[in-house]
Amino acid sequence: MKLLLLPLAVGVATATPLAIMADSFIKRGVPSSINYSQMVLYGGFELAYNLTGDEKYASWYRGQIDALVQNDGTIKDWDYEKYSLDNYRMGNNLLYWYEKTGESKYKSAASIIRQQINRHPRTPTGGFWHRDPVYPNQMWLDGIFMADSFYAKWTSKFDNENTTAWDDIALQYDNIEAHTRNPKTGLMVHGYDESKVAVWADPVTGAAPLVWDRAVGWYFLSLLEVIPVWPQTHPARKRLIDYFTTLATALKKTQDTSGGWWLIMDEQYVGDEKNYIESSGSAMFTYGFLKGVRLGLLDRGQYLAPAQKGYDLLVNKFVVEKDDGTVDWEGTVEVGSLSSDASYEVSSRETIPLHNFYGDDQKTNLL
Ligand SMILES: *[C@@H]1O[C@H](CO)[C@@H](O)[C@H](O)[C@H]1NC(C)=O
Ligand SMILES: *[C@@H]1O[C@H](CO)[C@@H](O)[C@H](O)[C@H]1NC(C)=O
Ligand SMILES: *[C@@H]1O[C@H](CO)[C@@H](O)[C@H](O)[C@H]1NC(C)=O
Repeated sequence: MKLLLLPLAVGVATATPLAIMADSFIKRGVPSSINYSQMVLYGGFELAYNLTGDEKYASWYRGQIDALVQNDGTIKDWDYEKYSLDNYRMGNNLLYWYEKTGESKYKSAASIIRQQINRHPRTPTGGFWHRDPVYPNQMWLDGIFMADSFYAKWTSKFDNENTTAWDDIALQYDNIEAHTRNPKTGLMVHGYDESKVAVWADPVTGAAPLVWDRAVGWYFLSLLEVIPVWPQTHPARKRLIDYFTTLATALKKTQDTSGGWWLIMDEQYVGDEKNYIESSGSAMFTYGFLKGVRLGLLDRGQYLAPAQKGYDLLVNKFVVEKDDGTVDWEGTVEVGSLSSDASYEVSSRETIPLHNFYGDDQKTNLL
């Protein structure tokens, strides 16, 4: 196994890391499914296509989506009664294809998700439940990324004057901020239960006990998706930017000397033998720093060096080239959930490295 040594500069004519990764997924095949994990992967294909202009990425991706979107504009096997924010992530991909082709079936499919949002169960203060029936009255950082980026993109494209919708989206961010952010560290725990009945819920605040890196990553990236489409004149815009920049400050402070971030980010677990530098969260924070700089939200002088350090770790440690020319991505936690007691014991037990989601199984190198 050779390690790839790849420069941060992208857009060069040679095969980029992104293209090699996309080629690896095409080669192995990806089961077509409405799952968010697929949809996030396809977001990478949007970028690979944009970067290389190579039609093979667009056509493979479209084939995956067309296996789900039917000619009458419905979504294959869509459950109109299943209220799970995870499933709404797909709306972003549908809007991408609507924009690219103008074909109404994609907009129609996206509108199914948009309408489902109107029926989605809510906490007493108006936050979307993470899932009905399993996670009533709970908001998770992950859910913000799954639902509200799409909600904002839809609104900006088709319903921009709908102040009720913009206020409603802002409320989701305000709620999660009010209940999960630790004002001292600037970090956010995984979620909260407004009814305070979950076994993990703090009896006073409803907050979950731990800061889980990937949840923070989803949230961080969601802000970067929503801020650019947010109306300049809407008052929440300034707040959202503040949520993003203060979180970036906290992340800069908690970056490990290796360049990565710990799975469980709470200070008392940093360096613990069951804890480790986790690659998906590290990738999201690195990407967030770079995109934040590109959008002018973060200071280049302060964030470029930490981003470079994070990027170097990702490509040198976690991207592993295989003998057949494909690459693996190692050191990723498989799952983190508030389905159990959410304790450190359970959270670290759930850290099954998922280095090769759609491929064969191998041992992984963890830091
Ligand atoms: C979709 O996700 C569910 C639950 O997360 C999982 O059981 C199922 O295998 C996934 N399907 C595919 C095709 O990836
Ligand atoms: C990539 O994105 C840029 C900026 O949005 C756009 O101008 C360009 O046409 C895109 N390239 C491709 C191949 O889609
Ligand atoms: C405006 O947004 C609200 C909240 O999402 C929604 O209930 C309503 O249907 C939207 N109005 C239109 C015209 O789409």
